[in-house]
Amino acid sequence: MAIVEFDMSGAEKNIGAGTIDSLKQEIKEAHEKLVNKTGAGNDFLGWYDLPFQLGDEYERVKAAAKKIRSDSQVLVVVGIGGSYLGARAVIEALTDPFANAEALSGKGGTAVIFAGNSISPVYLSSVLELVKDRDFSVNVISKSGTTTEPAVTFRFFKELLEKKYGRSGAAKRIYATTDKARGALKKMADAEGYETFVIPDDVGGRFSVLTPVGLLPIAVAGIDTDALIAGAKEAFGEYGDVSPEKNECYRYAAARTALYRQGKSVELLVNYEPGLHSVTEWWKQLYGESEGKDGKGLFPAGCDFTTDLHSMGQYIQDGVRLMFETAIEVKEPAKDLIIGEDADNCDGLNYLAGRGMDFVNKQAAKGTAMAHIDGGVPNLKITIGKLDARSIGGLIYFFERACAISGYMLGVNPFNQPGVEAYKKNMFRLLGKPE
Ligand code: PA5
Repeated sequence: MAIVEFDMSGAEKNIGAGTIDSLKQEIKEAHEKLVNKTGAGNDFLGWYDLPFQLGDEYERVKAAAKKIRSDSQVLVVVGIGGSYLGARAVIEALTDPFANAEALSGKGGTAVIFAGNSISPVYLSSVLELVKDRDFSVNVISKSGTTTEPAVTFRFFKELLEKKYGRSGAAKRIYATTDKARGALKKMADAEGYETFVIPDDVGGRFSVLTPVGLLPIAVAGIDTDALIAGAKEAFGEYGDVSPEKNECYRYAAARTALYRQGKSVELLVNYEPGLHSVTEWWKQLYGESEGKDGKGLFPAGCDFTTDLHSMGQYIQDGVRLMFETAIEVKEPAKDLIIGEDADNCDGLNYLAGRGMDFVNKQAAKGTAMAHIDGGVPNLKITIGKLDARSIGGLIYFFERACAISGYMLGVNPFNQPGVEAYKKNMFRLLGKPE
């Protein structure tokens, strides 16, 4: 099986036999722009073969993760957007949902807690309270080194660490992931002697999960980062052929482009595993920031099924016909539970006795896709074998590469984000930031 499989049979009413064929020339042109680095944003293509470029720094990441796991009950990861979502996505997909609770109760492991991804004093107070009597380290992540949310948040943790361990003790517990030379964070890290990791110049935030941005927190969470990177390399190896029949990634890019051109304006990424919730959040940034510009682009939205079928199901089935759905299926669950027989059968569920919960989940997915297709929501399906590091590495690369191809087919620069600055200008003016 391909590391990520793509199936568009649930959209056959919309994407007919010739549709993908008619896009072949455009796919080829987009592919050439990407591999020959001739397209818009070509100075931000460092992610393209990144899994093959990890040098000594990766060994330092692993060593730092080992140290943090040995001396800290908690790692606070301070970052936002592209400096946050990838790590969270991988960690939540691959660790037990209660791993942090176990670590916090002293049963082993290091809890990875995220902060700096909002400006909420309520949330920040809780994290500060949580770590104040525990051994903890901080990984502050900011490419620009000047983003308000993580910068303000970091001030609080720096102060707490210095109070707790002294200035030099604190410096041994602060890891800064930032630009190699520019920005306030780099300056501070050099002055204070923090260990630093570099976000390469040519890798944008939303494409940075396989740099130290993601790899350090992911390694601290106890995830096999070698397997994650191996999965991404495997995916890279599968996407060299420009023909969409042979290239699962390019077929996905072509299918979503075709649906957009037919008038769909929303792509709804859905999963049936709660652990994939933050993969959707990461994907939303990847596609939203890459494509939403020049008045164009699919709006990337997400739902967790079956949970959200009980809240959003009505709209998806019956509301404005503006969306198509892309479902992520995990072939083999990490765990399964067999439903037991009950002598009284008061709940009427004995018809399921002997069945695995995964079987029920899969039938829910099939039934939902059938209903939504009938209701005018074309369905695309992405399948990975397991929820393991290799598959998630493959899925990350699949989405990144498809995003680049889709963006070029859309006629935008997929690697800039000029719109992100607009709110900051107003906020700084309101806060009275000096020019
Ligand atoms: O992709 C982007 O540009 C943003 O989402 C950034 O990742 C986010 O604003 C964080 O930026 P920085 O890493 O510079 O703090």
